Amino acid sequence: MNEPEHPGPQRVSLLAGNWVAIFGLALASCSLFAAFCLIAIDFFHGFSQPYVGILTYLIFPSFIWGGLILAGGGVWLERRRRKKPAAAKAQPSGRKHTLNQIAALAGVFLFLMFSALGSYRAFQVTESVRFCGALCHTVMKPEYTAYRSSPHARVRCTECHIGPGAPWFVRSKISGLYQVYAVVTDIYPRPIPTPVQTLRPAQETCEECHWPEKFYGSVELHRQFFLPDKENTPWNVRMLLHVGGGDPTNGPVGGIHWHMIVSNRIEYMPADETRQTIPWVRFTNRDTGAVTVYQSQDNPLTPEQKNQPMRVLDCIDCHNRPTHIFHSPYRALDDSLWLDRIDLSIPYIKVKAAEALVQSAGAGSQASGIDLITQKLSKEYSDYQDQPKIRQAISETQRIFRDNFFPEMKTDWKVRPDNIGHHIWRGCFRCHDGLHAGKTGRTIANECNTCHTIIAQGNQPEPGAVSLQGLKFDHPGGEIPPGILCSECHSGAP
Ligand code: HEC
Ligand code: HEC
Ligand code: HEC
Ligand code: HEC
Ligand code: HEC
Ligand code: HEC
Repeated sequence: MNEPEHPGPQRVSLLAGNWVAIFGLALASCSLFAAFCLIAIDFFHGFSQPYVGILTYLIFPSFIWGGLILAGGGVWLERRRRKKPAAAKAQPSGRKHTLNQIAALAGVFLFLMFSALGSYRAFQVTESVRFCGALCHTVMKPEYTAYRSSPHARVRCTECHIGPGAPWFVRSKISGLYQVYAVVTDIYPRPIPTPVQTLRPAQETCEECHWPEKFYGSVELHRQFFLPDKENTPWNVRMLLHVGGGDPTNGPVGGIHWHMIVSNRIEYMPADETRQTIPWVRFTNRDTGAVTVYQSQDNPLTPEQKNQPMRVLDCIDCHNRPTHIFHSPYRALDDSLWLDRIDLSIPYIKVKAAEALVQSAGAGSQASGIDLITQKLSKEYSDYQDQPKIRQAISETQRIFRDNFFPEMKTDWKVRPDNIGHHIWRGCFRCHDGLHAGKTGRTIANECNTCHTIIAQGNQPEPGAVSLQGLKFDHPGGEIPPGILCSECHSGAP
């Protein structure tokens, strides 16, 4: 055969003698075919499994590219091996040559178009809630479960964790690669550490949806408690939380969101990774330039802590659980008793169910924890006359466990502090504990009425009398000794 005169056969033979190229081409075309079928399925039906999306838009395309690169490399090798200068001279003639070129161009064009489409879908797939939340079941299960019953259940993970713009996108994909590696090699930490040290500043995420200048005025909070006694005595608090606002054009400046006023800047140095102890706070009024430093008299800043990076207070320092809310046993049981999902007339049911939850938190898995709950509660109430009520209480306690306790990831309310409020975590009292004083001796405000006004409280399910003057807190546990924080006695469980 006279090679130089027949460019077609030459190309074939270039490949034919070269197994690398043939393997590459075979790999590319098989992957292309598979991806094509899956894309068609996705187009007409959509995938319900995030894995298939990854296979279609990430794995197969990388095989196609890999195959093509192999094939190209093979041809190049073969060329070099033959090194026949005569081949270079070969000029395929006329029409056939043009047709070949058109076909090749069309092929390249189609391939690039599919790649573009594929990368777009790959982007969509990796941004989806199912990808972030459901792909690595065990790892993300706690955060995903809590998220699904939160006020932000319809907000995509990436809207808070990545936000808009290319630099954060790239950063997140790079750290994402490491996370995949950590999952595959099983070296990820349990529980996943919090706070997220590299979380994007809230201005660029939360404020995409929440307008920081908005004036909220006072927001009513109604919380129904049940005391841990034989009667599960109802006890409730209704209060106006002075959320306020920080922008004079939209309402009076003040209240809790006063921290977020554009002219205010609050910085602090935490003493620990979890930011639960704050020995040092600096408040700068940007308008007047006045600076006040408040130091804790209880835990002064140690010399080593002085070199820590400073943190500027933003939404996350209070709203650190806007969506991954892990309820304490008491809190979750209060809700169930309130909604009548557990019968109030069962003696001591709140304490007993809470004890069952705490005990099961140490189980090896969610399934064995759920079994433990059944065992403990059915033994406890084996003599109780109304067994259907007990069965209902058991199944509700199991639901609470399933939604809030994740033994596999060692995750529950104990490792997920909530910084709003001050009942079972220090929260606002990390700074507002009456012990953070400035040079003049004035402390950061800690009067009970600074942040809220109690308008009703008591042990009637719906108190008739509402006081707008504000009531002194009537603590069911008796007079609160001075100098002790709520969280030193309350932990959310027996
Ligand atoms: C409304 C905003 C928002 C959404 C939506 C959101 N997160 Fe989060 N996420 C946060 C905040 C805030 C934190 C806590 C950050 C901190 O304290 O530093 C967090 C923390 C986490 C953590 C660290 C562990 C923890 O509980 O603190 C993981 C893991 C996580 N999120 C995964 C997800 C996944 C998966 C999704 C989607 C299913 C998601 N997040 C959706 C705001 C959000
Ligand atoms: C994509 C838009 C979006 C983003 C981003 C977002 N939110 Fe929200 N947020 C909402 C919507 C919508 C609601 C109202 C939900 C409702 O009322 O049911 C809401 C409600 C809230 C509430 C009131 C919750 C309640 O109990 O009623 C708080 C507090 C809040 N968001 C804080 C945050 C914080 C903090 C961040 C950043 C970590 C954030 N949000 C990010 C859309 C968003
Ligand atoms: C100093 C702590 C603090 C900071 C900082 C803070 N908030 Fe709040 N915010 C609160 C408290 C307390 C409430 C009352 C509701 C509650 O207790 O859950 C609240 C309420 C809200 C609500 C709900 C109002 C309603 O009608 O229920 C939204 C939305 C909100 N904050 C968004 C934000 C955003 C966005 C930022 C950042 C720009 C921010 N907050 C910064 C403490 C704070
Ligand atoms: C990092 C420390 C820090 C944390 C945490 C913090 N604050 Fe503050 N807060 C301050 C400082 C500093 C001031 C200004 C000092 C002053 O004038 O008393 C202030 C002032 C206030 C004010 C008074 C605003 C005014 O009108 O004068 C309210 C209300 C308030 N905070 C509520 C809260 C609530 C509610 C929380 C918890 C959700 C909270 N703060 C968490 C540091 C903090
Ligand atoms: C720095 C602001 C601040 C101060 C000072 C403050 N509180 Fe609160 N308190 C809050 C916030 C914010 C919440 C709402 C928490 C939530 O949304 O769950 C709250 C909630 C409560 C509740 C409802 C129970 C619960 O579980 O959340 C009670 C009761 C209460 N406070 C009592 C007091 C008493 C008594 C004092 C005075 C010793 C006080 N507070 C001082 C901010 C404050
Ligand atoms: C010295 C310990 C102590 C301190 C400090 C304390 N409490 Fe209590 N608290 C109790 C006891 C004891 C009860 C009675 C019921 C029980 O055993 O949980 C109780 C009951 C309650 C209840 C009724 C619901 C429930 O969970 O039992 C609320 C709400 C409450 N306290 C809020 C607060 C708040 C808010 C603070 C801080 C301002 C505070 N407590 C400080 C010991 C304390």
